[in-house]
Amino acid sequence: MFQHDIIIVGGGLSGLRAALSVKSADVAVISKVHPLRSHSIAAQGGINAVLATNDRWEDHVFDTIKGSDYLADQDAVEVLCRDAPGRVIEMEHWGTLFSRTDGGRIAQRPFGGAGFPRTVYAEDRTGHHLLHTMYEQALKKGIKFYDEWLITRLVVDKGRCCGVTGYNIPDGMVEGFKAKAVIFATGGYGRIYKHSTNSVINTGFGCAVAYRAGAPLEDMEFVQFHPTTLFGTNILITEGARGEGGFLVNRGGERFMKRYSPHQLDLAPRDIVARAIQTEINEGRGFEGGYVHLDLTHLGEEKINERLPGIRQIAIDFANIDPVKKPIPIRPGQHYSMGGIASNKDCETSISGFYVCGECSCISVHGANRLGGNSLLETLVFGRIAGENAEKYVNSNGAGEKEMIDRATEDEKKKISGLLEHKVGEEFFRIRDELKTILDEKSGIFRIELDLTIALDKIRELKMRYKNVYVRNKGTIFNQELVNVIELEGMLDVAEAICLGAKARKESRGSHFRLDYPIRDDANWLKHTLVTFAPEGAQIDYKPVNIKIFQPKPREY
Ligand code: FUM
Repeated sequence: MFQHDIIIVGGGLSGLRAALSVKSADVAVISKVHPLRSHSIAAQGGINAVLATNDRWEDHVFDTIKGSDYLADQDAVEVLCRDAPGRVIEMEHWGTLFSRTDGGRIAQRPFGGAGFPRTVYAEDRTGHHLLHTMYEQALKKGIKFYDEWLITRLVVDKGRCCGVTGYNIPDGMVEGFKAKAVIFATGGYGRIYKHSTNSVINTGFGCAVAYRAGAPLEDMEFVQFHPTTLFGTNILITEGARGEGGFLVNRGGERFMKRYSPHQLDLAPRDIVARAIQTEINEGRGFEGGYVHLDLTHLGEEKINERLPGIRQIAIDFANIDPVKKPIPIRPGQHYSMGGIASNKDCETSISGFYVCGECSCISVHGANRLGGNSLLETLVFGRIAGENAEKYVNSNGAGEKEMIDRATEDEKKKISGLLEHKVGEEFFRIRDELKTILDEKSGIFRIELDLTIALDKIRELKMRYKNVYVRNKGTIFNQELVNVIELEGMLDVAEAICLGAKARKESRGSHFRLDYPIRDDANWLKHTLVTFAPEGAQIDYKPVNIKIFQPKPREY
């Protein structure tokens, strides 16, 4: 058994930032992959912060709340936006090479749904630069890392978290980690969808582990679809491309966004732009196969090379199209999870000693729709808070019982060998493929009651079939098939929570658009969804939204 004061699960930006804010407690970071392979590396367009003298944090708060379709908790959004400048400057001081204005200041670009160009960026590889800086700082501080461990269980004793169990991917060992506090920074669940910008590690397994341990999942029905993913591969084509002046065009050569968002056009919030593109495709104004064009050709080679070099390379490598010469074929794809493990603005959950931050959490600063540039920000702001609060907690609370971890470890060993013992059964990828397909088709950008019922029935059928899943590879060394099988159980739980929340929510708000209930309904639905695990079946409940000064209004863009 390993033992630390604080265990952080997840080696991306949130997890590393949490580790860096722990001053004297003994902290370790456990990660499914090497930290530099975390999905934070894939963030492109930038991070929001009020830096200019003619911008105001209050305006950042308002843009975020309006963008969220008034579902964000306003106390948490205030924390996010007030802390943003400090966090960005801190990264600058730690060594992140942000792009510059001609005068040498940190450059900022326009982003969707923002009333001011406040997105700080490092070309179109912002996540890459931030993650490398953060990892350097973690190495400098001598943080202990456990790489390539899949955390399989959150151990809870009488409402209090006392550690985790993990499966070591390189050698197949199952081990317990005893801790006074645990922070989950395990990322999103994009890969339960077929068309996603997410890396393959984003299975939502952290959310599922917390859910099975008793932490409710909040607002899972709010799934973000990024408007512009490369047709064919769904690789992200940053919103920064539109921030720099790129625009969307349909098959008839029309800049159609003027029909959907007369004021903000291509820089409306993502939910609006994604629906607009999907409508163009559905109504036959897209190109053969189902895509529209993102045109950057008018920006010129110099600007594209300076501001969007990664996008140019992606389009050349994966679509054989040079955006300097031709428009990029794009379509919407799953991109981000607004929902996650329910938490307050102090990153505390319903389980004492268990904290969450980043995409796996629902704090909720994004509500029903996240603004681009606010997720990198969330990792830094709430990563720091999670680490600080976990340290305060361990300073006044002792460790849990060692026996609890031992027992949980033995149970996990049995569960994993049970999976390996199946001599016949169904291969995991059939179940996983059907899951991804049903979510894409029935719980996507446009939803309707009948489809959500079909999706839920299917997920429950897949859960039954999972009981009979068969693992062909019986080995212990890098058994990726076994890892996939373990994670699939969690993907099914997460998918069920999404569809349950989506079916129950009889209104349209932010990313959740119900064709049968197309209007936002504040009288009945201005509330957060909570889904709790129970052996007899998931339970659904609601809690109020924190409204401070911005009363809900119709959104106009
Ligand atoms: O479009 C983008 O660069 C994505 C940014 C984000 O999701 O915040």
